Amino acid sequence: MNGRRWTFEDLNTISALENEYFAQSAWSKQALADSLLSENFFGTLLEEDGVITAYGGMNIVLDEAEIGLVATAEMYRSCGRGKKIVEDLLSEAKRRGVKTVFLEVRVSNAPAQLLYLKCGFVGLYARSRYYPDGEDAIVMRKELD
Ligand SMILES: CC(C)(COP(=O)(O)OP(=O)(O)OC[C@H]1O[C@@H](n2cnc3c(N)ncnc32)[C@H](O)[C@@H]1OP(=O)(O)O)[C@@H](O)C(=O)NCCC(=O)NCCS
Repeated sequence: MNGRRWTFEDLNTISALENEYFAQSAWSKQALADSLLSENFFGTLLEEDGVITAYGGMNIVLDEAEIGLVATAEMYRSCGRGKKIVEDLLSEAKRRGVKTVFLEVRVSNAPAQLLYLKCGFVGLYARSRYYPDGEDAIVMRKELD
């Protein structure tokens, strides 16, 4: 399973998956396109037989990164793709000299929390009513050596 960087041709598919999995908190197609134009953004995906099966993205500012996107298409879950996406993001962050990586995850999203714990993140604190529907987020952090 090799990752590759996003291109503009991928945006329709990524946007459709965002809308499917994140509803109100999905990144808009415009936000995805703006990110692709930014040097601070890194987006990676897995493509198998022409199908995008998983994707992720992060913003890097100085020595900190914020992972804002991670998803695996529903029928491809539980086979290591989410972990591969997070690992690819972490290795790019390391390559760019990042020391600390943050992310937010819904308190109800146990699969994602377990994925991030498995990748070495620790929970820091809750951010009250962070999501548009009023759900709290857990802020997680990983220090890179
Ligand atoms: C969270 C998500 C990205 C996981 O992707 P995935 O490709 O299924 O994850 P992986 O197969 O790489 O799993 C890696 C680890 O995550 C944890 N995990 C993943 N799915 C899990 C589930 N349904 N239940 C419990 N643990 C789970 C496990 O620890 C797993 O390791 P293991 O297989 O050795 O037990 C996927 O469920 C998804 O896209 N969800 C909808 C979008 C989303 O919530 N994204 C996160 C936003 S913060």
